[in-house]
Amino acid sequence: MAGRLAGKVAFITGAARSQGRSHAIRLAQEGADIIAVDIAGPVESVTAYPPATEEDLAETVNEVEALDRRIVARKADVRDSQALKQALDDGVAQLGKLDIVVANACIFQTSPALELADKDWQETIDINLTGVWNTAKVALPHLINNGGSIVMTSSLADLKALGNSIHYNTAKHGVVGIMRSIANEFAQYNIRVNSVHPTSVNTIMIQNEQVWGLFDPDNPQPSRESAGPMFQQLHALPIPWVEPVDISNAVLFLASDAPRYITGVTLPVDAGAFTK
Ligand SMILES: NC(=O)c1ccc[n+]([C@@H]2O[C@H](COP(=O)([O-])OP(=O)(O)OC[C@H]3O[C@@H](n4cnc5c(N)ncnc54)[C@H](O)[C@@H]3O)[C@@H](O)[C@H]2O)c1
Repeated sequence: MAGRLAGKVAFITGAARSQGRSHAIRLAQEGADIIAVDIAGPVESVTAYPPATEEDLAETVNEVEALDRRIVARKADVRDSQALKQALDDGVAQLGKLDIVVANACIFQTSPALELADKDWQETIDINLTGVWNTAKVALPHLINNGGSIVMTSSLADLKALGNSIHYNTAKHGVVGIMRSIANEFAQYNIRVNSVHPTSVNTIMIQNEQVWGLFDPDNPQPSRESAGPMFQQLHALPIPWVEPVDISNAVLFLASDAPRYITGVTLPVDAGAFTK
């Protein structure tokens, strides 16, 4: 198959829905085969929006197969490095190799700092920070002989701290530490490591009452419509949020061979939020 990723294999975490599914589809459109993992079930501290399901993960499989690409999908929790290793190793055994890693899985549940339960702090750090390291850790042995590209999803919450999100902000800052450390240590193997930093993305993670309420705090019934203009105020460009495919296109660029000497960079996809 022709395409910018023809003949490559990509491992994507959090691939059941939203950005993770979009990355799977976008990379598959460019010729990549996909190893997809997702917890596809609930996470204890997240009550603001519903969990991804096994049906969601099955839909990702359908959409990639409809593009005539191969996909190996497994339920796995990024906190469990053994399960993650098993899922990836199965995928590599079936698809032959690994070239691209997209560490995308994450949770987001807001709380004022002093009201945040210890276990909720820990769960966000375990998934959003340690989960990213686990993803890289199980993938690096597959990349050492061939080189490759690792893309980690951080956030605008690394470049600016979001309100009521100390645990999320801390984890996303930490992702940059993982990214830069691995970029340095594994450059000798032609492994490039970069992070993408989305502004608000039009997914369930922000399209829910809890987040609308953060942006529209005086409204007893905040909605997508009422919060939209407040989201837009963050941006230089006149839009409230970007779409998952906008992040996928940045991931595709970093995963492709075009940026062959770009490593260790933090790439915002932020509609000009940082410059505003
Ligand atoms: N939506 C936004 O506005 C926004 C902005 C900046 C950054 N991000 C980041 O983008 C990424 C994707 O978020 P999204 O908007 O697609 O949200 P989402 O909740 O729709 O998708 C996240 C996926 O990760 C999976 N996941 C969660 N915990 C997991 C675990 N322990 N193990 C395996 N899989 C797990 C979920 O099941 C889900 O399918 C995340 O890293 C998020 O922090 C999102």
